[in-house]
Amino acid sequence: MDLDKAIRERRSIRRYTEQEISTTDMNAILDAARWSPNSGNTNSWRFIVVTDKALKMTMLNFMPGVSDVPAAIILICIEAKQKRVKEATRLVHMADAAIASQNISLSAHSMGIGSCIVASFADVALRALFNVPEGIAPYIAITLGYPAEAPLPPPRREIEEIAFINEYGESWQS
Ligand SMILES: Cc1cc2nc3c(=O)[nH]c(=O)nc-3n(C[C@H](O)[C@H](O)[C@H](O)COP(=O)(O)O)c2cc1C
Repeated sequence: MDLDKAIRERRSIRRYTEQEISTTDMNAILDAARWSPNSGNTNSWRFIVVTDKALKMTMLNFMPGVSDVPAAIILICIEAKQKRVKEATRLVHMADAAIASQNISLSAHSMGIGSCIVASFADVALRALFNVPEGIAPYIAITLGYPAEAPLPPPRREIEEIAFINEYGESWQS
């Protein structure tokens, strides 16, 4: 799929069919994730792929922003290099997780698989549920599955409203 088309046409999907995602497709999605830009090329992501029905149901108890049962949920965790994670490092970790989640969403979309990035979850509960070791923390979850809805694009601000030329407030003129 053309990249520009994928970027523009991807939507957050929140309703899914019961169709499972094949191992081949999930592998392609994970491969796209590991080719994400990442800080210092540390490759610090750890991806927990959850497909087990009972586990997904338990997981969803700790994800209030998710209203349907997806075929799979990927929980992106980041391994910290140092024991005490400073706030600035935490932001870098979030950036690594966020960029990987975008690659996951676009890769899934290119194969007709819907996704929704989810940041609102009880990380302490998910850490316990998946036995995430100390030094590794969950940052972002992505629900995945074949779409049972085709949402209209939500509004976006015009470029002139959000882009400036050379100085803050000097509107970019397209
Ligand atoms: C960091 C992040 C966190 C998000 N968390 C949630 C969430 O908890 N629940 C949800 O339904 N959507 C969540 N979304 C999806 C956004 O609501 C969605 O991207 C936005 O409304 C724009 O819609 P679109 O993705 O279809 O363009 C999240 C997106 C991002 C990037």
